[in-house]
Amino acid sequence: MKHSFNNLNVASFESRRSKEIGKLIEYYGGISHIAESVVEIPSKSSKETEELCIKLKNGDIDIIIFLTGFGTKLLLENLGKRLGTKPAKRLLNNITVVGRGIKSRSVLRNFGIKPLYSKPVPNTWRELVKILADKDLLENKNIAIQEYSKKNSQFIRALKKMGANVLSIPVYKSELPKDTENLENLVNNIIKGKIDICLFTSSQQVANIFRFAKKLKLNEQLKQGFKKIAIGSVGANTSLALMDHDIKADYEPENSRMSNLVREIARRSEYLLTKKRVSAKNRVDTNKWKRIDTNWGKISDKNRRAITNNSQFMKACRREKTDYTPIWIMRQAGRFSRHYRSIRANHTFLELCKSPEISSEVTLMAVDQLGVDAAIIFSDILLILEPLGLNLTYTKNDGPKILNPLRTKKSIENIRKFEVGRLDFLYNALRITRKALNPEIPLIGFAGAPFTLASYAIEGGASRNFELTKSLMYKDPELWHQIMSILTNATVKYLNRQAKEGADTLQLFDSWIGCLSPGDYKNYVFPHMKELFSKIDKDVPTIHFGTGTSSLLKLMKEAGGSVIGFDWRVDINKAWKEIGYTCSVQGNIDPIVLFSTPSIIRKKVKELLNNVNGRRGHIFNLGHGVLPGTPPDNVLALIDAVHEYSSR
Ligand code: CP3
Repeated sequence: MKHSFNNLNVASFESRRSKEIGKLIEYYGGISHIAESVVEIPSKSSKETEELCIKLKNGDIDIIIFLTGFGTKLLLENLGKRLGTKPAKRLLNNITVVGRGIKSRSVLRNFGIKPLYSKPVPNTWRELVKILADKDLLENKNIAIQEYSKKNSQFIRALKKMGANVLSIPVYKSELPKDTENLENLVNNIIKGKIDICLFTSSQQVANIFRFAKKLKLNEQLKQGFKKIAIGSVGANTSLALMDHDIKADYEPENSRMSNLVREIARRSEYLLTKKRVSAKNRVDTNKWKRIDTNWGKISDKNRRAITNNSQFMKACRREKTDYTPIWIMRQAGRFSRHYRSIRANHTFLELCKSPEISSEVTLMAVDQLGVDAAIIFSDILLILEPLGLNLTYTKNDGPKILNPLRTKKSIENIRKFEVGRLDFLYNALRITRKALNPEIPLIGFAGAPFTLASYAIEGGASRNFELTKSLMYKDPELWHQIMSILTNATVKYLNRQAKEGADTLQLFDSWIGCLSPGDYKNYVFPHMKELFSKIDKDVPTIHFGTGTSSLLKLMKEAGGSVIGFDWRVDINKAWKEIGYTCSVQGNIDPIVLFSTPSIIRKKVKELLNNVNGRRGHIFNLGHGVLPGTPPDNVLALIDAVHEYSSR
């Protein structure tokens, strides 16, 4: 079963819900080791709560921030006792109420209070500050904060710096349990290497176990112990607490829920653990590391290639027998994922693409999270246009824009000679990624096909009908072929260089080619595609993808590609038969199927696999990229269903 810890030893320091997490761990095939680490002791009397009541009544509080579920419950109860439930509710509904994390928000809603809307739900104090700043809710505002355990002084400082007055309300203390025998045993088991996976479900657990270890003078040994254990963190706040002790969480679920953490890390436990242990053995400091620091050991390039070439994905490219149908997902490192969005929040899209270490981290993140059978380097098809002299930007709502589109003879004369070295950032990203990526997982390099690139260059951005592109093509075929030649030559150089720098496969995205009739494809595009494929390094398999291509598939196949990528509009087996079973195919579930439910997804996967009927050379994918807003759980369900049903 893919969802299984397979008898790994899984530790947790959860306290209030210790039984529940133990059951979850065992349900997913782990051996559970639980030691309670936190006792929450409500503060008996609080002058701050009294002060809050007076200020609320006087209208001297503008905003109240709740930081934890348990604290929210306690403070609401206290306010209810002092003010009466109804008046307390009325007073709170008159001001801005902010909840951090899903727990405090659900407690608020149950009490009849609507927390400030924000998507995504804020999980860290930094996110809270940003939301309040964006909504202009800081300067000269009176803010009360429900605190837990210790005051969060960084948070308070940040609020004060932005001009807020802060009243901090302690409602409970988080202490170590009285009987610490269990806790001591578990800490020792971590140190002795008897634990494989450790799950943290709150920041207080992190603080408490390090406080406890310090008392026993085992702090440093505990940190060493964590170097060989895959660490799961329920969410960003808990991961920050780990960072305070120089420990990097290896996995965070898409939703900050205990059940999501256990279920998701179970399916990746083996990979994450191997990755960490092998790296630690190769002298990587796996306490405070990044994905790009992963070290699989010294291995010659030749041997590495031999291992990669033996992977399920590469075998499928060559139409060899595989143990199961390999799957990857177009746009797998994209906006559907909270992890991508949180990195993206701090950089523009172009910055991401041009920072090799970040784009590599994003590429590897998708592999760690999803368990796909191939990685695709994080980049974009349009970057090749910049060294040709086109000015590229990405706008928030309209996508890519070319500020000086190619429309006239003159603008084409101004195209710069393509220098392949100008895209150095991508080759760096490929090198860094290939080094950190498990040799058993192939890395896909890619480029836009000349027609699709030309459409952006000529239209100046996305287009529905491609009026400018096609009219140039019809009116001035000579100029058209000139543009296509320039793009073809550049693309050949670009792709061959990618193969040299570590790409194991190359995909050509001819995303918008489906707007052409077969006759026009033959005249205006086919010769260029044929030339392009003939010039690509023969050792590297190629994937030739387009959408809306049902009437073009035979021509596309003739132009080239070891694998032909289908969108969801064709019946995979009929289309394969039509182009001849002499190539591999990729696809082709409708990306919108992922907006349904896991059980529907499983049914669709089964249907598609039955249709393919085990024929060699099928790479599973969506028919086009995974869309923003796709529920991440459904993406995982797709991958697991493909692996499970196709297992031979
Ligand atoms: O598949 C992957 O995970 C690798 C990354 C990748 C991106 N773009 C990242 C991206 C790949 C393979 C592409 C290819 C690409 N880019 C295509 C061909 C594939 C397809 O979907 O048809 C096209 C047409 C583009 C051009 C492009 N880039 C558009 C139209 C847009 C904006 C609209 C959109 O779909 O996002 C982009 C931006 C882009 N490229 C984003 C990502 C993750 C979103 C940027 C953001 O974070 O705001």
